[in-house]
Amino acid sequence: MIIGIITEDLGPDPHNTLLHTTGLWALNSLMTTLAITPVSNWLKWPLLITVRRMTGLLVFFYATAHFWIFIQFILDFDWTVLFTEIIKRPYITIGFISWLMLIPLAMTSTKAMIRRLGKSWKKLHKLVYPIGILSVWHFTWQVKLDLTEPVIYIVILVVLLGWRDFNDKRKLKRTS
Ligand code: HEM
Repeated sequence: MIIGIITEDLGPDPHNTLLHTTGLWALNSLMTTLAITPVSNWLKWPLLITVRRMTGLLVFFYATAHFWIFIQFILDFDWTVLFTEIIKRPYITIGFISWLMLIPLAMTSTKAMIRRLGKSWKKLHKLVYPIGILSVWHFTWQVKLDLTEPVIYIVILVVLLGWRDFNDKRKLKRTS
């Protein structure tokens, strides 16, 4: 997309290219964020966790750009149509809820907020799991024909969330 912007070649429908690319980058950053904890555990490389905040903020950045492109280029700032789309199109409703849930996570990502919220910070940031489910759902629902890509994302999400569930149960067993 960046090369496309520089060379002014975003294809026959540049707005759609921007909308789709930012959507995919938001989803890819989200999957990367969810993958960091299991990968760091697997490689026994705790330092990897330090990049999680950056990838998390990238999710918010791309999702907000995606939403903004939708409002500006697709809806031409027609707020009534935006409201109708959110109410009437379930895949937009889901995407919107997912974006709303990203806001408190982005707002509490600073070191000062982590310190201030203490244990509640961890609880709040568990929101990333429903966000993952809603975002993959949003992606799957808007696909018209070939479901190969959504199935790949669903499998990745199931593995990443399944690993956490397995790990939590194992920790619980050890402490009881
Ligand atoms: C305010 C929230 C959102 C709105 C209004 C919105 C809207 C849209 C629209 C209109 C499309 C294109 C559908 C089509 O071409 O028929 C789309 C696609 C997509 N969206 Fe969203 N979206 C939102 C949030 C999100 C979020 C939070 C994510 C991921 C974290 C996301 C990821 C995607 C992906 C991956 C695609 C498909 C891209 C592709 O197939 O190339 N969206 N979205």
